[in-house]
Amino acid sequence: MTVDELSCSGFARAIAVSELASGKPLHVTLPSGPAIIVLTTGDTNEIVAFSPLCPHQLGNLATGTWANGRISCPVHEYEFDVLSGACVLPRDEAMHLRKYEVAVSAGDLWIKIPRPKWRRD
Ligand code: FES
Repeated sequence: MTVDELSCSGFARAIAVSELASGKPLHVTLPSGPAIIVLTTGDTNEIVAFSPLCPHQLGNLATGTWANGRISCPVHEYEFDVLSGACVLPRDEAMHLRKYEVAVSAGDLWIKIPRPKWRRD
């Protein structure tokens, strides 16, 4: 997609892809809200973006710890696999990270954070 197409589709430019260090989470705040971005390690090297709000009880994942492809919430220490978004400790198939759509265009990373249903603007 072009930059114009991304903008018209609700994406916002977040960072230059070159700013991502493998396996090290980055926190960004876009006009549509905050996000955590991770370049996964291993075979995948996939860029993942998700909400910093823990799906358990809204702890701030931006202050959580990060290791081996998992982010741990600082509140109750639940762990989430960032690639799948699944809650892996304790295993809970109903609980997932709120992942965002990402796109790369001209060396920049774009993220689409859906507007909450309660917002009218
Ligand atoms: S609020 Fe994150 S584990 Fe409970």
